[in-house]
Amino acid sequence: MHDLLEMAAYAALGAGLAGLAGWPAVRLLRRRSLSLSLFTVALVTVLAVAAGTIAVAQAMFLSRHDYGVVVVVLCMGSLVALFVAWLLGRQVAIASRQLTRAARTVGSDAGFAAPEVPLSSELSALGAELAATSARLAESRQRERALESSRRELIAWISHDLRTPLAGLRAMAEALEDGVADDPRRYHARIRLEVDRLTGMVDDLFELSRIQAGALTLTLSRVSVYDLVGDAIAGAYPLARERGVRLVGGGIEPAPVQVDSREMTRVLANLLVNAIRATPVDGTVAVAAWAAEREVVVSVTDSCGGIPEADLPRVFETGWRGGAARTPRAPAAGEAGAGLGLAIVRGIVEAHEGRASVHNVLGGCCFEIALPSASG
Ligand SMILES: Nc1ncnc2c1ncn2[C@@H]1O[C@H](COP(=O)(O)OP(=O)(O)OP(=O)(O)O)[C@@H](O)[C@H]1O
Ligand SMILES: [Mg+2]
Repeated sequence: MHDLLEMAAYAALGAGLAGLAGWPAVRLLRRRSLSLSLFTVALVTVLAVAAGTIAVAQAMFLSRHDYGVVVVVLCMGSLVALFVAWLLGRQVAIASRQLTRAARTVGSDAGFAAPEVPLSSELSALGAELAATSARLAESRQRERALESSRRELIAWISHDLRTPLAGLRAMAEALEDGVADDPRRYHARIRLEVDRLTGMVDDLFELSRIQAGALTLTLSRVSVYDLVGDAIAGAYPLARERGVRLVGGGIEPAPVQVDSREMTRVLANLLVNAIRATPVDGTVAVAAWAAEREVVVSVTDSCGGIPEADLPRVFETGWRGGAARTPRAPAAGEAGAGLGLAIVRGIVEAHEGRASVHNVLGGCCFEIALPSASG
């Protein structure tokens, strides 16, 4: 027992000294390559085992032959251990080099190209994280590109829509100035109409920019959808009468909603004006409202003959105005628009945590807005 303790002390002393020698190496290697660290760990282990074994062998006064056998066995074991450590280190180095190369493809158009070599579980987790980051980057870049192109398109359209009426205004003003206008009163009325239309367009642009910048501050109050729809119908009635369109508001439930009345009136007015404009003379625009599960739905159904299925997903886009050419219609027709109305509708409804949608029905289309219910 005493012998065994003595041997353990010698072994611990030898291994401890080797370990102590290895400690500075571990600290020095903190910033060096992982493969070098792995090799050093193996080397320190081998040295510790060898030092302990040799210390014990010395203490046991082994014969030269037995001592030689111990040294040879130690050398062989050490060589194999160091070779395996080197192989492992090389494998880790290759995998991390490949992952570094793959990391350069993060966010590229082709997407993240994962390394072909097998990776350790930690490096695989890192690779999966890089792939997910790359996908997120690609998605946001695509969104940014789409936003940028729609913004550019909108600016081009708006400047086109502004340029033509401005040229008309200038021509009318010059005619009045030169005294060559045959009917100055008619010119004045036209100028006023154009200015009103341009003011409406600028107002819509301002509202849309507030919505898109997230600067729309809602003053919420609890109101009955019956009153909201009633007011909107009353506001749109003159236009419907002028256009020979029947405006019917049957089936409106008095469900309570928590909304900004001003903004919601704007939403309903946009929907009604669109529906009336799209409906031929003698056609019908029907407004309905009902309480569904946890929401209140308002629908505006017109007799426009339906919107082409391919266009349905685009109607709420900023600046989209159907397949029609973007030439401003005559102001006298009272229907010149910039394609901003439905984008404003969706923006305001979504700011209320609601949904705006459209689908075709028999003979027309139906715009629906769903608002969170304020009851219960
Ligand atoms: N009720 C509807 N029925 C058929 N088509 C519609 C209806 N509402 C909108 N549209 C189509 O969607 C397009 C976009 O509508 P939106 O209200 O955004 O713009 P706009 O009415 O053309 O102009 P603005 O509303 O800015 O004056 C319209 O030009 C029209 O082609
Ligand atoms: Mg509109």
